Amino acid sequence: MTDALQPVAAVLHEIVPMAEDNHLFSFLPEQPMALTPGQFVEISLPGVGSFPVSSCDQVRNGLITSCIRRAGRVTEALYRLEEGDVVGLRGPFGKGFPLELFRDQDALLIAGGLGMAPLRALLHALLDDHHRKGRIIVLYGSRQPEMLLFREELVQLSLERQIELRFSVDFAEELPSLAGRVVCKIGLVNELLAELEFAQRNTTAAVCGPPALYNCILEELALIGIPAAKIFATLERRMRCGVGECCHCVVSGRYICKDGPVFNLEQLRKMTEAI
Ligand SMILES: Cc1cc2nc3c(=O)[nH]c(=O)nc-3n(C[C@H](O)[C@H](O)[C@H](O)COP(=O)(O)OP(=O)(O)OC[C@H]3O[C@@H](n4cnc5c(N)ncnc54)[C@H](O)[C@@H]3O)c2cc1C
Ligand code: FES
Repeated sequence: MTDALQPVAAVLHEIVPMAEDNHLFSFLPEQPMALTPGQFVEISLPGVGSFPVSSCDQVRNGLITSCIRRAGRVTEALYRLEEGDVVGLRGPFGKGFPLELFRDQDALLIAGGLGMAPLRALLHALLDDHHRKGRIIVLYGSRQPEMLLFREELVQLSLERQIELRFSVDFAEELPSLAGRVVCKIGLVNELLAELEFAQRNTTAAVCGPPALYNCILEELALIGIPAAKIFATLERRMRCGVGECCHCVVSGRYICKDGPVFNLEQLRKMTEAI
């Protein structure tokens, strides 16, 4: 059995620049790791520190892929590394999205900014499930069109796999012209919800983004009829151990690292300081 506190060596396999200060990093750990969407790993750089990150895809050929924003000291150091360098990886940690609740249901994925990263992992898991029935609707908001992560891929998927895709941006000198029936509007992502027709009671929703997004959308989803037990959001907190031992991530008596980071709205309502 692997020790959850002991990092395994992982080769930095590929770095793909995306939007400003957001790169796609893929890592090949020396021991294979299984990761479900919403779970996270802890990346450590010897002599610098570590940080938690979720994957933005299914594990493919042993590779764990994450979209990582240059945010502070450790991610800054990661951005200075090159392909072939070695980092430490611990995990997988936490509880991810319950995929069984997305089966035979319409799936509504709502992302803000970098929140698209873990939801992309969920999206790919849903698409890889060939027995799954139901619509897949993706609403994604960002500050500007250039900051919409995975934009081309999402548009392509909407054409090939009939994902219903709508973008919103806070600001744009010019809105991008998008293929197919993809829409991009100026406004907030929750405004896209108002234009949508779907069977609320047969829908499972996943939301990921900044706290402001959670504040305006989680209760709204419940209000329009999606059962609170089928509305999921993923939380971010500063972490250390990742396994419920250091108490660094405790909110209202729950460990974000171990009991989450994915919680449903019934649970979130009881966690008063969660959002
Ligand atoms: C479950 C989980 C999943 C995540 N997934 C992703 C992901 O997919 N991609 C991604 O890019 N990031 C992700 N993160 C966030 C990532 O872990 C943080 O951005 C991490 O802090 C970066 O480490 P750093 O040392 O580079 O930056 P830090 O030095 O930790 O700084 C990051 C930001 O936090 C601010 N900050 C620093 N110290 C404090 C403090 N004490 N209190 C409040 N703010 C402070 C800084 O000003 C800076 O803006 C995830 C976090 C969690 C918990
Ligand atoms: S990070 Fe240590 S208890 Fe959650």
